[in-house]
Amino acid sequence: MSLLSALSIVCGLMLHVSVNALDTQYCVPRKTIPYQNELKLFREEGIFNYSTMLMRDDLGVLLLGAREAVYALDINNISVRKAAVYWRVTEEKQRECTYKGKHAEVDCRNYIRTLHRVNDTTMYVCGTNAFSPTCDYMTFVKGQLRLEGKQEEGKGKCPFDPFQRYSSLMVGNDLYSATSINFLGSEPVVLRSSDLALRTEFKSSWLSEPNFVYMDFVGESFNSLDGDDDKVYMFFSENAMEYDFSSKVTVSRVARVCKGDMGGQRTLQRKWTSFLKARLDCSLPEPSLPPIVQDVFLLKNENWKESVFYAVFTPQSGLSEVSAVCAYSVSSIRDIFNEGKFKTPVAVETSHVKWVMYTGEVPVPRPGACINSVARKMGMNRSLDLPDKTLQFIRDRPLMDEAVQPQTGGAAAGEEGSFADSDRSGQCVGAGPTEICSHVHWH
Ligand SMILES: *[C@@H]1O[C@H](CO)[C@@H](O)[C@H](O)[C@H]1NC(C)=O
Ligand SMILES: *[C@@H]1O[C@H](CO)[C@@H](O)[C@H](O)[C@H]1NC(C)=O
Ligand SMILES: *[C@@H]1O[C@H](CO)[C@@H](O)[C@H](O)[C@H]1NC(C)=O
Ligand SMILES: *[C@@H]1O[C@H](CO)[C@@H](O)[C@H](O)[C@H]1NC(C)=O
Repeated sequence: MSLLSALSIVCGLMLHVSVNALDTQYCVPRKTIPYQNELKLFREEGIFNYSTMLMRDDLGVLLLGAREAVYALDINNISVRKAAVYWRVTEEKQRECTYKGKHAEVDCRNYIRTLHRVNDTTMYVCGTNAFSPTCDYMTFVKGQLRLEGKQEEGKGKCPFDPFQRYSSLMVGNDLYSATSINFLGSEPVVLRSSDLALRTEFKSSWLSEPNFVYMDFVGESFNSLDGDDDKVYMFFSENAMEYDFSSKVTVSRVARVCKGDMGGQRTLQRKWTSFLKARLDCSLPEPSLPPIVQDVFLLKNENWKESVFYAVFTPQSGLSEVSAVCAYSVSSIRDIFNEGKFKTPVAVETSHVKWVMYTGEVPVPRPGACINSVARKMGMNRSLDLPDKTLQFIRDRPLMDEAVQPQTGGAAAGEEGSFADSDRSGQCVGAGPTEICSHVHWH
């Protein structure tokens, strides 16, 4: 459960109160939950940093990861603790961590940051483990939570730093994670831990001091006319490369990789051949700098083309207390990655590089595309079969030229005709920090 799912409840509450203050025509909450004065609370003496949640409807529990503890709470009343397991750092680990200059009580503890479902009884759990990330399997059987003690390397799967944002996702038996892979937090990766592990190239054109916020899976191979593959989409902010400002500017991004990616044979060996990214646009009342994505939620539809990402943004200046939610259809993001133009770096002065639209010839198969019918017709069944020309192109140009625009609410969209506004940004902005509201998607 992401922050946004929780936020949407808060948001619903706020809107209930605040919607009259806004123009209701522009802003209609997707869901409104009347306030009931029976909030349920779970807290355990001496335990802090309840930061990770995993809903297991099938087991009737909400798993909750905290500092050095994991709880199984009753799904119907989270005040009821059904089981707990503790995973404390060893004295030795804590000592090593403090020798490296970290704070013993703040940094050198085990913050549980990853909880994923593996199968009916088993979860995958990772903790920061005193700046030495470690993972393990955990079972919930006969009302008991138990760590298996098969401690695995957690580097790249879970952050070292408990304060760092990151994101991860389990797809089948593969763990996708986006975090820093080193102690200093200076080497970002998007990693797939599987029989064939893949990662991003360590280049600032791929990732530049990113702050990862979310990832999710879209099963695009289903009923695909062009034999396309499933994808993992991720959202983050990072240093911009496309602006000519002298100071650092941050931008919001969406990126994606293909599930069947196996890396290249010579070029991009053990690296993604399908990592593509684009800027995410969402306008705030204060338009001077690009807004920063803070969290995302994917509203899944049976037909993946109708699925919509809702993203919360705040201004980069931090001056005004506004926020906004923009909605992006999976198909509009996909169109940019599958058909859009690329950006390419050009040297303007000796040390300065400018990113402009690439107008030259694009190799076939298309760089960054998943293995699809086009590639298969050319006898390429795996990314390992892709020619160097395609791979070199994408290694050097992972950024799309066009930014992803939010869905418009205009009547021109046809089925969204009940929206009378002409607000091009298709978003809704409140006056206070919590008065966000999402663009409504009518069915
Ligand atoms: C953990 O919780 C404590 C107490 O609320 C807080 O001071 C600290 O910043 C939190 N640590 C992290 C990593 O969030
Ligand atoms: C939830 O559990 C708590 C703690 O056991 C109990 O005090 C409370 O009455 C329960 N609430 C409901 C609605 O069952
Ligand atoms: C669940 O996954 C764990 C770890 O991969 C494995 O050891 C266990 O046998 C699996 N259990 C079931 C019921 O499939
Ligand atoms: C790709 O798959 C097709 C059909 O399964 C097969 O005929 C062909 O030999 C394969 N090509 C390569 C390069 O593996």
